[in-house]
Amino acid sequence: MATHTPTEATGSGVIPVSDPARREPVLTIEDLDVHFPANDGSVARVVDRLRLTVNRNEIIGIAGESGSGKTTLVEAILGISRFPNRRLNGRVLFETRTRGQVDLATISARQMRRLRLEEIAYIPQGSMNSLNPVLRVGDQIADGMIDHGVPAGQARGRVPELLERVGLEARVARLFPHELSGGMKQRVIIAIAIAMSPSLIVADEPTTALDVNVQRRILETLARLRDEMQVAIMLVSHDMAVHAQLVDRVGIMYAGQIVETGEVREAVKRPMHPYTAGLMQAIPSIDRPRARMEGIRGATPSPRNWPEGCRFHDRCPRAMPVCRTIPPLLAEPVAGRREGVTGPVDVIAGRQVACHLYPESTPPEARSDGSGRPAATTEAAR
Ligand SMILES: Nc1ncnc2c1ncn2[C@@H]1O[C@H](COP(=O)(O)OP(=O)(O)O)[C@@H](O)[C@H]1O
Ligand code: SF4
Ligand SMILES: [Mg+2]
Repeated sequence: MATHTPTEATGSGVIPVSDPARREPVLTIEDLDVHFPANDGSVARVVDRLRLTVNRNEIIGIAGESGSGKTTLVEAILGISRFPNRRLNGRVLFETRTRGQVDLATISARQMRRLRLEEIAYIPQGSMNSLNPVLRVGDQIADGMIDHGVPAGQARGRVPELLERVGLEARVARLFPHELSGGMKQRVIIAIAIAMSPSLIVADEPTTALDVNVQRRILETLARLRDEMQVAIMLVSHDMAVHAQLVDRVGIMYAGQIVETGEVREAVKRPMHPYTAGLMQAIPSIDRPRARMEGIRGATPSPRNWPEGCRFHDRCPRAMPVCRTIPPLLAEPVAGRREGVTGPVDVIAGRQVACHLYPESTPPEARSDGSGRPAATTEAAR
């Protein structure tokens, strides 16, 4: 039996993070590349050898500064290609309800259309402004279902229940988008997303344009929907405060890769990766009222020219010689008490980090003498 059950992280507390149901993957991304070759011979490696697992019924946050590749990642998952020069490599394995496992990176556009909404719903960045201004809200919710083969009468009949699920009154069905506040529009978008009972919702910056109170209530609604509908939610946001409020587990993205994952409270309070620590210093916190708002020095590198070795090395206060040449692997540190970047960390299942401060991240062939990593930077206490 697991000893660590950080239920408070979800706010809902219904299923502990260590519940085995959470650990069953619904989406497994293996070494995903999303590259864009340009006419001048350069290649923008916007997402590059990215690895990530999303478990059933969990809310996973994808965090990282603007430009780290978050939207490019979710568009690759959803089979959306806004640029004809996109090159996709790697596997995006999704567990369907009825057809077993499919690789979203290789299925046809027709198969993807069927999966969208039926099993995977997408809430794109800024989608609350994409509601049709001349159609009543109820018709827009029903149309989504009709497009997926639900008989019109049945689709219209479900509208009041869907509105109620997202915290809106049934009368909202008769309104036009311009009669709604921003928060109400976002709730309508969520109603459309859940209409076909998906097992995964991917939401890109769903609350970014909203004020903090509206944002908090929308996040509460998403948490309740996860519990009621048993759906996994992948929530993309540049805002660590959003992750701290809602998600169970967070994946920190830097320069096209996931560099740390972990249960959100742990990752936020006791980061293992220096980039995560820098992100945390950039937000005020009730736990750290005197935290310095210093952020991270230097600029985000360009996807056309990622630095050699660890992509964070020229901004990292802990960089060592090895960091300049050898890319660290995203690895699960051995469980137990470890020295993180702001103090001791109790490593539990689900924690991953890509940093040479932890020997597990250094490829075996580079671990010997001369690696440049000081011998005593990590310790696994019994
Ligand atoms: N088609 C493309 N060709 C070249 N560069 C791109 C392309 N699409 C995105 N990028 C670059 O990739 C980076 C990450 O973009 P994006 O996925 O939107 O990041 P985020 O959502 O994290 O802000 C940006 O610097 C952007 O300029
Ligand atoms: S691998 Fe080195 S440069 Fe990269 S985050 Fe870790 S200590 Fe810093
Ligand atoms: Mg984005």
